[in-house]
Amino acid sequence: MEFVGKSKETIKIKEYAEKIANSDSPILIYGETGTGKEVLVDYIHKVGNRRNRPLVVQNCAAVPANLLESILFGTTKGAFTEATDKKGLFEVADDGIIYLDELNSMPIELQGKILRVLEDGMVRRIGGLTEIKVDVRVIASVNTEPFECVNKGFLRRDLFYRLNVFYLKLPELKDRKEDIKELCEYFIKYYNEKFKKHVKGISNEVVEIFYRYDWPGNIRELKNVLESVMNFKDGGVITIEDVPEHLIVNEKGLAEMIEEFEKSKIAEALSLNDYNISNAAKYLKIPRQTLQYKIKKYGL
Ligand SMILES: Nc1ncnc2c1ncn2[C@@H]1O[C@H](COP(=O)(O)OP(=O)(O)OP(=O)(O)O)[C@@H](O)[C@H]1O
Ligand SMILES: [Mg+2]
Repeated sequence: MEFVGKSKETIKIKEYAEKIANSDSPILIYGETGTGKEVLVDYIHKVGNRRNRPLVVQNCAAVPANLLESILFGTTKGAFTEATDKKGLFEVADDGIIYLDELNSMPIELQGKILRVLEDGMVRRIGGLTEIKVDVRVIASVNTEPFECVNKGFLRRDLFYRLNVFYLKLPELKDRKEDIKELCEYFIKYYNEKFKKHVKGISNEVVEIFYRYDWPGNIRELKNVLESVMNFKDGGVITIEDVPEHLIVNEKGLAEMIEEFEKSKIAEALSLNDYNISNAAKYLKIPRQTLQYKIKKYGL
């Protein structure tokens, strides 16, 4: 896995990641689906002083709540029917890193247990009597804005503050379009090798189309588009004829661009002000009523 991208946003993230890679403090990552959270965690592991120790990844949405608890904390024989003496992932990740993906899907009670590990570095297997000391760096990610997670009750406030020692936000692909070209080159090379093809690159026209498109599935969507395109091509340059039609959107008008900008600024102001409308209005230097109207208009 490589962390590709030279936009100023991506470079900033990379530099920050390098700076915090040798610390033991927790990291909170926020990124929408497909923005490369796992790639980033992998990078932090690779450049940090725990690189020769395990990186253990657990998606908190992928397994049922009670199972998640035994996966993370381990079990002792007899804790429940069929329970065996088994290490949890915190023990497996000792001296290394545990990455808790989609933490906002983890049940709130279990989040309390995570907080305790972060406070004292001790885990207790389910049904166990002894506390086991672990030295694990915790990286957690959420796919919704963290304050929103807290305010909607998907993330414990105390855990949020404990994790938020270092915070990294992965912008959506549409907000770092300068990465598109390099990502395309990287994925073309990848699929050339995988599919034994000789595709040379993409035409400027296609780059323009990719710039105009919004990429709701972010980098994963771009990767999948190239995978699909390259199935049908043996060599040459990817041109407009090769691109799936739904990606071709017309140039936006100025009014639409301004609205988009306004919407993103308002969302940012709301999140910076903990969703307090009066404070966000002050921050934006507009009347409260105007802000309220715009929130409604943009469905924020
Ligand atoms: N900066 C990048 N450089 C190279 N490949 C990337 C980059 N970002 C993402 N990718 C690729 O895009 C795909 C999605 O990335 P990843 O799984 O890290 O996203 P994610 O944020 O964890 O998504 P999800 O929220 O759906 O789990 C992967 O195939 C990954 O290799
Ligand atoms: Mg992921």
